[in-house]
Parts: sequence; structure tokens; C-alpha cells
Amino acid sequence: MSDTAALVIESLEAGYEPGLPIVRGACLALRRGEIFAILGPNGAGKSSLVKAVAGLVPISKGRVLLDGRDITRTPAHRMVFEGLAFVPQTENVFINLSVAENLELAAAIVKAKRRDQLDPVYAMFPDLLRQRALPAGQLSGGQRQMLAVARALIAKPSLLILDEPSAGLSPLLVSHVFNKLREVRDAGLTVLLVEQNVKAALALADRAAVLVEGKERIVGRSTDLLNDERIAELYLGRHTGKQAVKEGA
Ligand SMILES: Nc1ncnc2c1ncn2[C@@H]1O[C@H](COP(=O)(O)OP(=O)(O)O)[C@@H](O)[C@H]1O
Ligand SMILES: [Mg+2]
Repeated sequence: MSDTAALVIESLEAGYEPGLPIVRGACLALRRGEIFAILGPNGAGKSSLVKAVAGLVPISKGRVLLDGRDITRTPAHRMVFEGLAFVPQTENVFINLSVAENLELAAAIVKAKRRDQLDPVYAMFPDLLRQRALPAGQLSGGQRQMLAVARALIAKPSLLILDEPSAGLSPLLVSHVFNKLREVRDAGLTVLLVEQNVKAALALADRAAVLVEGKERIVGRSTDLLNDERIAELYLGRHTGKQAVKEGA
């Protein structure tokens, strides 16, 4: 059991219209307790891939295994009971509800008892405890992202998937959110995230893949990818200085 991969994505094809796959034969295996980043150009299918894994984009071929269990085509709303939590890029909190209500709603969905699941999450996110009465819409971008992560953790998932958690955040807030993801990993979860912010993502992740046209092109340890000429040219602008990927604003 211990050598079972946390998540296996096996020859996955997925897309929005029949016969037009966006994810084209993607294969990835995540190790238990690692942070894995999916990088790649705009439109490469990064969001489509993680949404297909999370049950939000129809899968036409291939399999998804979570802790060895086949979860291919499990409806998105059932994924939380399989141990998979997904934080979408946008609209990941209820802005008209308070911080506390957002967390209590997440707890209600999995029928969690307050003491069992809310308190540990508040302990991990003391800022949210302080701001619990505030409408989520009034949180800063960084705190809102923290709330989205906190909501996802209420169900005690084994795998946390996030689509561009750094989008729209200042570098300081990115480092706060990424530090929290390290804590999440160190608590034993496996973390899969999509990132545009390549430098920060490679500094955070244990391993990463570059997705191009719906298929992984490069997979490796982040430290190796940082020294990979192809990555340097494509994303870090090390050669001309002009090819640097747009910084996550
Ligand atoms: N809801 C959708 N319906 C139809 N096509 C979509 C939808 N979302 C994304 N696509 C298409 O899928 C392709 C990959 O998009 P996406 O997965 O968002 O890429 P990335 O996250 O890597 O930027 C793009 O060509 C995009 O137009
Ligand atoms: Mg995307």
C-alpha cells in the first residue's frame, strides 16, 4: 500500500466537446506527500487537466486513480468523499457569507463536527479565526485564497488540487500562500497545483511537469527543472531575457 502512488493520471483524454480532446493522453504519477506543479503555456490544457481529474470536465479515455482507487468519472460533488479537494482559480469562496459561514458550510457538506474539523483548520489559519465575522468578499486576495484552501481542508482530503493559487497576488502574498501549502504538505497531504508563476512554483514544488497541447512534455524534480535549458529558455528568460513568461501579476 505504501508504494501506491497518491494520484495516477493514466493516458487521460478529456475535453468539452466529443471528438475534440483538450487533454491528450496525459500521464502523471504523484508521490504521497509531495507538492507537484503543472506548468505550461496559456491554453496548454492545465486547467482542463485538473478539472478532468476533479470530475468537472468529461473524460473520454484513460483513468484516474487516487490512492489506488479508480475515481475516473466520479461526479465532482462526490470527489470530496473520495479524498480529493479541488480549489478552482476563481469563485472559490462565497463572498456574501462570512469567513465562519464559509467554513461551516464546508463542514456541513461533509457532516463534520465543529470540534473535529473546524478547530484544527482555525488553528492552522489564525488570521481567519480573527476575521471569522467578516464577509469573505472583504478579505484581501491572499486571505481569500487562504479561506479557499481552509475550506478545502475541512473534508480532510488526501489530495489537494489548486488551479493557480497565486493568480492576482503580490509576491509577498504568494509567499504567504505557498508557505501555507508547504505546511499542508508537511501535514501529510499530497498537493497538485497549476501555476503560471514558474519560478515561484519550482521553488515550492518537489516535482513538476510542463504540459504542452494537453500532454506532459517535461517531468522532473523541480531542482533539475530549474537547471533545464528548455525551461530556462521557455520560462525564465535566461538566454535572451526576452522570452520570460509573463509574470503572474
Ligand atoms: N469551458 C470550455 N469550453 C470549451 N473549451 C474550453 C473551455 N475551457 C477551456 N477551453 C479550451 O481548452 C483549451 C485549454 O484551456 P485551459 O485548460 O484553460 O488551458 P490553461 O489552463 O493551460 O491555460 C483552450 O483552447 C480553451 O479555449
Ligand atoms: Mg488555466
